[in-house]
Amino acid sequence: MNAPVQSLKGLDLKTEIDRLRKQRNAVILAHYYQTPDIQDIADFVGDSLDLSAKAAATDADVIAFCGVRFMAEVAKILSPQKTVILPDMDAGCSLEDSCPPEQFAKFRAAHPDHIALTYINCSAAVKAHSDIIVTSSSAEKILAQLPMDQKIIFAPDKNLGAWFNRKTGRDMLLWPGACIVHEAFSETELLKLKAQYPDAPVAAHPECPAFILDHADEVGSTRAILDFALKSPAQTIIVATEPHIIHQMEKAAPHKRFIGAPGADGNCNCNMCPYMAMNTMEKLYVALRDMEPRIELDEATRLAAKKPLDRMLEMAGRTVGQGDVGRRG
Ligand code: 13P
Ligand code: SF4
Repeated sequence: MNAPVQSLKGLDLKTEIDRLRKQRNAVILAHYYQTPDIQDIADFVGDSLDLSAKAAATDADVIAFCGVRFMAEVAKILSPQKTVILPDMDAGCSLEDSCPPEQFAKFRAAHPDHIALTYINCSAAVKAHSDIIVTSSSAEKILAQLPMDQKIIFAPDKNLGAWFNRKTGRDMLLWPGACIVHEAFSETELLKLKAQYPDAPVAAHPECPAFILDHADEVGSTRAILDFALKSPAQTIIVATEPHIIHQMEKAAPHKRFIGAPGADGNCNCNMCPYMAMNTMEKLYVALRDMEPRIELDEATRLAAKKPLDRMLEMAGRTVGQGDVGRRG
């Protein structure tokens, strides 16, 4: 349950969050889709794979996870002895919603000769029914370790699955889920933008449909998109993913121009993730103050979900030692 955010007028939230972080021995992890104020106060900002590895390795007592619920659940699954708090427990994910665990279990049972390779954007219960978890930055490396004739169910993102089918020449059976944010980009508006900036490469997240990915110069996870934007010699880059990641780009390369790919109405507001936006500095402060809302999982589900997550970290070469998350002093 979320505690009501009472009037916090007059509080210097940055100072208070910093004070509580030290008092609680907490680490603040944030995804690139969080607002700039949250990204700037976090100890670490990353993509799903990096955040999972950090959550598994931290020696903090508390993980304040600024991202969506499934990400905070991963932190709890991997670090059960830690208290994991999420500023807003309603911060879900449309991909998670598109894959109810009971239906997924039935789908699996109907295809007993397939293994389930499941995108990390799903509930702990769906992870518990999976063989290997992947993120967009680890899927290719993990697929390369599986025999080509291995039958595979890929859930829940049909766009991501189709992208990896295309890239690897596989024929994975796709669950019909999609992300509402990445599905909102408009091909017509993107082509107009490309005509306006003919030298600007397009970097896109593989959750986008093929009609967007077909125009991309780089397709990758949020971290891969960030790396591409910084390394590219181009001075203007079109970014087809949730636009809050542009904050990191502008910080690292203030001389470049980064343009968010547009939605159907020609402006990119519809491409903001409404779930990520539920977390605010006020709610982060209240969560650290009250140590609520907390992620709690039943132990059987946690253990079953941990197996395919451990396989991901192992196959992605991301089994990390304790204590490698630097915290602010
Ligand atoms: P990344 O693993 O690329 O950070 O993706 C997370 C996500 O939810 C994209 O919508
Ligand atoms: Fe989920 Fe899409 Fe938001 Fe990512 S951007 S957290 S996939 S709803």
